[in-house]
Amino acid sequence: MSDDKISSATVRGDFNDPNTVIHYARAAHFLGLWKSEDILIRRFFTDRDAPLIEAGCGAGRVTAGLHDLGYRNITAFDFAEELVDQARSLIDERAPGANIRIHHADATRLREADGFRDGAGEPRFAGALFMFNGLMQIPGRANRLAALRELRAVCREGAPLLFTTHDRENCTAAERILWRMETDRWAAGRQDPRLVEFGDRYFEDETGRTFMHLPTRAEILADLAVTGWRHAFDALRSKVSAESRAVRDFSDECRFWSAVSV
Ligand SMILES: C[S@@+](CC[C@H](N)C(=O)[O-])C[C@H]1O[C@@H](n2cnc3c(N)ncnc32)[C@H](O)[C@@H]1O
Repeated sequence: MSDDKISSATVRGDFNDPNTVIHYARAAHFLGLWKSEDILIRRFFTDRDAPLIEAGCGAGRVTAGLHDLGYRNITAFDFAEELVDQARSLIDERAPGANIRIHHADATRLREADGFRDGAGEPRFAGALFMFNGLMQIPGRANRLAALRELRAVCREGAPLLFTTHDRENCTAAERILWRMETDRWAAGRQDPRLVEFGDRYFEDETGRTFMHLPTRAEILADLAVTGWRHAFDALRSKVSAESRAVRDFSDECRFWSAVSV
């Protein structure tokens, strides 16, 4: 095991891993939108014809779900090439000829990529989504801030943003003890040397390796405020809707956040 710090290249490599690709492709084909996503997408994105941008689209689970809900102008992107291929083939199969574009791009460098601004260089999108904790899979707070700024730069004023995170503070008693132990490890410099910041986790299971930053509520509020987004709403998923066993097996409890570009 290398002690190198986790970087965006590490995360991209992990998402391109064949096991991980199969995991997200299965979810895109067979799981679809969570009930909570369905409810909040309908609540915050009221114009089905408005141009939407979906960051970290993976194998297209949410992209296809947006199309099924009636959204008719979708630009989705991901930085993992293998997942982009999966998303493109899913959309070709499910929605041939639909007004959906799937790009290969990095959320932290969106303005360098083609397809995210109109011909006059003006912000193109009237709404943005970064679902299933993708924003928190960007290592380093400065890079997550860059992604929020980049999304803001390609959205018009008043555009809603919807994303999810884990919640470091809303955890079980056992997890609280683990976080206290992690605090002690960081204080003593004995943390996993690959982690970038306190709150990071890097773990491996049958679906592959996952990097995840678990933020506090204050951290997200502060990050939205300095990147051109006004906080509008946040709630734990379990407070938005109960989910099926299949959704709970695919994804843990998380917090939904909605903000508006200012
Ligand atoms: C947990 S997966 C979610 C995939 C999909 N949205 C879903 O819900 O099934 C997070 C996604 O974010 C993507 N991602 C992470 N960092 C990214 C970045 N900097 N730029 C673009 N995509 C990124 C990953 O490649 C991955 O596909």
